Amino acid sequence: MFPNLNVIDHPLVRHKITKLREKSTATRDFKSLVHEISMLVAYEATSDLPLEEVDLETPLERTRGHQLSGKKLALVPILRAGLGMVGGVTELVPNARVGHIGLYRDEDSLNPVDYYFKIPGDEEDRLFLVLDPMLATGGSAVSAINTLKQAGSQRIRFLCLVAAPEGVQAMLDKHPDVQIYAATLDRELDDRGYILPGLGDAGDRLFGTR
Ligand code: PRP
Ligand code: URA
Repeated sequence: MFPNLNVIDHPLVRHKITKLREKSTATRDFKSLVHEISMLVAYEATSDLPLEEVDLETPLERTRGHQLSGKKLALVPILRAGLGMVGGVTELVPNARVGHIGLYRDEDSLNPVDYYFKIPGDEEDRLFLVLDPMLATGGSAVSAINTLKQAGSQRIRFLCLVAAPEGVQAMLDKHPDVQIYAATLDRELDDRGYILPGLGDAGDRLFGTR
């Protein structure tokens, strides 16, 4: 439906997303599920990483294998809720560098307000994976990626758990070069900008606030 969207169609992802949405899921389980689903989304989002051949010795003989080539990946969680995805992705890519972008959505205007930005150097040469569980209006993702591009990043992917069509379209309009990897594409936004059926406020559910 959207050329910039990759939905991870896998029974484990569907099962875990269903548990994540359930309002009775406790904070502790919510955190674990975000961790596990992030790992599965990252597995897909890294499926075409470039490799180089290496020689090695097994206990039995010399052989050739492969290792990731190029600069280390950069993970960039959007604070706060993106922090919940870092652990799962770093389990797959333990050498990744981690930057941070601080943004929150103004509750009335729904516009993003930025308060922090720190990313690893060598921006031109790295693949950046931006992490945020929720892509709602797309305002936060578009703003984070504007800032990353201004800093020199050229290769960016956006990883989320729940995407709304409105946010995917906003990304397609503003950043058609950025592929989105999502665990699910939901129906629509409500009049407060919440994703339906969604899972509520991801930051509050992860950190037990409110
Ligand atoms: C949530 C979410 C995204 C943003 C998505 O963050 O984690 O960053 O909303 O909405 P958008 O696509 O309409 O911009 P929030 O602003 O609630 O901040 P928090 O993570 O600090 O709770
Ligand atoms: N941010 C959230 O945490 N949840 C939504 O449904 C929309 C934006």
